[in-house]
Amino acid sequence: MKSEKLFELTSRYMPGGVSSPVRAYKPYPFFTVHAKGSRIYDVDGREYIDYCLAYGPLVLGHGNEEVKDVVREQLEKGWLYGTPHEKEIALAKKIITHYPSVEMVRFVNTGSEATMAGIRLARGFKERDKIVKIEGGFHGAHDGVLVKAGSGATTFGIPDSKGIPKDSVKNTLQVPFNDAAALTAMLEKNSGEVAAVIIEPVMGNVGPIPPQNNYLSDVREITKENDVLLIFDEVITGFRLALGGAQEFYGVDADLTILGKIVGGGFPIGMFGGKREIMELVAPSGAVYQAGTFSGNPVSITAGLKTIEIIEREEVPQRINKLGERMRAALSEILRDSGVEGYVSGVGSMFKVFFSPSGAEVRNYAEALKCDKDKYMRFFHKMLSSGIFLPPSQFETNFISFAHNDADIQRTIEAYKENLYAQ
Ligand SMILES: Cc1ncc(COP(=O)(O)O)c(C=O)c1O
Repeated sequence: MKSEKLFELTSRYMPGGVSSPVRAYKPYPFFTVHAKGSRIYDVDGREYIDYCLAYGPLVLGHGNEEVKDVVREQLEKGWLYGTPHEKEIALAKKIITHYPSVEMVRFVNTGSEATMAGIRLARGFKERDKIVKIEGGFHGAHDGVLVKAGSGATTFGIPDSKGIPKDSVKNTLQVPFNDAAALTAMLEKNSGEVAAVIIEPVMGNVGPIPPQNNYLSDVREITKENDVLLIFDEVITGFRLALGGAQEFYGVDADLTILGKIVGGGFPIGMFGGKREIMELVAPSGAVYQAGTFSGNPVSITAGLKTIEIIEREEVPQRINKLGERMRAALSEILRDSGVEGYVSGVGSMFKVFFSPSGAEVRNYAEALKCDKDKYMRFFHKMLSSGIFLPPSQFETNFISFAHNDADIQRTIEAYKENLYAQ
């Protein structure tokens, strides 16, 4: 196997053989040679239907031709200016149009950078140090939010990373998801000291966990009542659940919004934005410092702009959300009929089978942790053998893209059926 040999080599030169932890799984991950549409191909000549989709950005699937064309045109004109350029205005306008709570934006290079700066801005605006995050919420791999973080940190059982000074996280408070009373209690206990609550409106990094009932509107109310900013981290949900992300989908707005992934059309990007009075505090117009060499680079901006145009024109969220509904309904039925203990979670184009005890619903991080991650990994390998690439972790979301067609979905459902029955 070429992948096995390559993994031996990368493991010599790179910790764990990978550039980001969750990509590593035993005995070795496959190495990709190319990817197109809904498919990804490995060095050993295998083809997979891809539901990992680079962990979310590829809402149009791999290698979209229209995006490729505009990127190629842009490359002819240069790929990094270090000056303002017109396309930044166009992308900013798109975001502002679809996210009414956003009046100004700052482009950065990753979701991590965007949450880091967004939190700094909230603290600067409120002149308070504490923030509240959700247990299992992942906002990137920087010090202040890497406590009880989801994603790779949970997969590898290191939710609290070494190397983070206690002082860096002493102002990070945590509450469980889907528990409005816990948030109220936390804010009341720390009255006048909390700058912001940062939350993924749909938890995406412990598997997709949607908000229940009125949870998000309750969070909005509670943050207002306690005079605390609300930061929606829509790095996953932005331009996926709806053009206006979870804010449009659930009809709840935020004071600051974080975007990433899809907004760069598969190229590195991040964005934080919000109300003018808050954003004007960002340097150089204000005293909250933030900067970046590659920020607003014309390649990411061009790819993002074209991607959003296609999402608008083709009504991508509506179409992929329907595929998601079909997938979740079919998988729930298979679980019921097979007697396998599990629960199908998700919303829109995101889905996941949780191997939860007695098939219980998963509503937060603590409940996600009770799921059988070893069983998941055995199942993951069976699906891989059936030509289906799911994310290699019980705690990562499966994504459907616009490139997935009915036949892909059908083949995937059949593979689930075969492999769940074999559990
Ligand atoms: C909700 C959320 N926020 C922030 C991030 C960090 O984004 P990036 O990996 O671009 O730094 C991620 C990454 O998966 C994410 O899912």
